[in-house]
Amino acid sequence: MSDLLFDRLGGIEGATRIAHDLVDNHLKNKAISTRFADSDIAALKNAAATFLIAGTGGPDVYKGKDMLAAHKGMNISALEFMAVLDDALVALGKNNVGQREQEEVLFALYSMRSQIVLV
Ligand code: HEM
Repeated sequence: MSDLLFDRLGGIEGATRIAHDLVDNHLKNKAISTRFADSDIAALKNAAATFLIAGTGGPDVYKGKDMLAAHKGMNISALEFMAVLDDALVALGKNNVGQREQEEVLFALYSMRSQIVLV
């Protein structure tokens, strides 16, 4: 199997399923669900999927904003950031992603913290 995290997540299909589950988890997560009250959920799922695909070494399909621009002025707290990481781990587990791959995704997400929390 290829070394690319994208391939190890199951390519387009796998990454898309994970990203859609992640958004579904956000909508059920009381710590952050209200943040998405006015969101177009299909568009948000597409943004999450294309971001995960492009960010893990797949095709360059993400057309959204960079993380600083996407979250600037939202006053996102460290607890909210943790809630997103929790939701990501649940989505990865549900899709039977391996321990090592879960760690790689978690690290990649964590490394974006300074562009998202209180920016
Ligand atoms: C590493 C963590 C995170 C990543 C990778 C991430 C990723 C993204 C992406 C890709 C978008 C779409 C941007 C676009 O379409 O231009 C987005 C939008 C958004 N994010 Fe995040 N995000 C993270 C953390 C958070 C946190 C902690 C919150 C607050 C609970 C949050 C709230 C939002 C909101 C409210 C939007 C706009 C949704 C909309 O336009 O309907 N994000 N995020």
